[in-house]
Amino acid sequence: MNVLILGQGGREHALAYAISKSKLLSKLYVAKGNPGIAELATIVNINPLDNKAVKKFAEEHNIDLIIPGSEVYLENGITDQFINSSISVFGPTKKAAQIETSKEFAKTIMKKYDIPTADYEVFDNYNNAVEYLSKQSIPIVIKYDGLAAGKGVVVATSIEVATEALRLMLKDRLYGNGNVIIEEFLEGEEYSLMTFVHNNLVIPMPIAQDHKRLLENDLGPNTGGMGVYSPVPVIKQRSIDFAVSDIMKKTAQALVKENCNFTGFLYGGLIQTIEGPKVIEFNARFGDPEAEVILPKLESDFLEIIEKLLSDKIIDIKWNEEYFLGVVMASKGYPSKYDIKFKIKGITEPDSVVFHMGTKLLNGELLTNGGRVLLVTGRGKTIKEAKENSYKNVQKINCENLIYRKDIGAKSL
Ligand code: AMP
Ligand code: GLY
Repeated sequence: MNVLILGQGGREHALAYAISKSKLLSKLYVAKGNPGIAELATIVNINPLDNKAVKKFAEEHNIDLIIPGSEVYLENGITDQFINSSISVFGPTKKAAQIETSKEFAKTIMKKYDIPTADYEVFDNYNNAVEYLSKQSIPIVIKYDGLAAGKGVVVATSIEVATEALRLMLKDRLYGNGNVIIEEFLEGEEYSLMTFVHNNLVIPMPIAQDHKRLLENDLGPNTGGMGVYSPVPVIKQRSIDFAVSDIMKKTAQALVKENCNFTGFLYGGLIQTIEGPKVIEFNARFGDPEAEVILPKLESDFLEIIEKLLSDKIIDIKWNEEYFLGVVMASKGYPSKYDIKFKIKGITEPDSVVFHMGTKLLNGELLTNGGRVLLVTGRGKTIKEAKENSYKNVQKINCENLIYRKDIGAKSL
């Protein structure tokens, strides 16, 4: 098989790593890739957001399968571009990707099909939203329905903070003309449950726990994720089984019933409440940094899984049972303003250990080139061992502008 991955971060590096091990692979291309990915695949210099250019490249290079890494390609209609083509895209159409790109769409599906999630109301008017808010208890969650550069979710611990968020989103229209969802606050452990999906077929992966806050002890601003580990011992198998059947399978089946068939990676961002797991959000692609600890656990052939699924067959997947833990090394200042182009030295481990999230090669030197720069993994028979191994690998990396959390996985020790 000839495969093209779209994207350039740690998730795409992990995808390239898993795919490069496949017995079915002939040639692997990545647009636009990064220096870590370049060691595993041929880098293609086309704009992955230019659907026509991607199509032309895919046709000219006999690509069999395209894997879009990020939701931006899905929202940009890359899958729709290949409907009725012999080239498969393992990612949902723009319409089905709304399960991630439109919070209102996702909530409507969950309500209609009785999929457990937080209670909510949708607003397009500031005064109505404030009136509803006055009858709610605190904490409360305010979510902008649309792209908001990662700032669209406010977990408000006072009415003042909630009102201010509503003012910015509905009065000042800071992020645009989207609606706002006011949502019940759910309390419990958060975890990510990712699945391979093709229409009604759903195959779960092991669960992972991301650390979204910038600072230790879950303080500071929300980020794309500062560290991750898998599996997550505080979440019991009974609860995962329920989440697979009553959340992930039910959602895939609901999308089929809505004539919105989903193919790709369906990611449930869940909270283990006292009433059981509930959905915070769905994503229509692999999680980042979840991909970087889940894909190295995969012992089955990645392309065989996709090939079987696309021909409506379910395959038994083998996973490594050890703990995998990943620490994100980010630029000082992230998730706000940060500088780039700092030299990175000391990556001696193979690419199944250090994944590149935001790096660049210039005149033979590896430089920082993003907010989140590297994800360094470790594995072990216990979380403690995986954590120690991961931080041992972090210590080897030398870069004056990188920071990281020292407590990834600490809650589960
Ligand atoms: P999201 O962008 O939807 O993933 O939300 C970002 C973060 O806000 C989540 O990872 C949660 O930690 C938190 N969050 C979102 N919705 C809720 C909720 N209903 N209850 C509690 N926390 C939430
Ligand atoms: N790790 C969270 C995400 O990929 O959205």
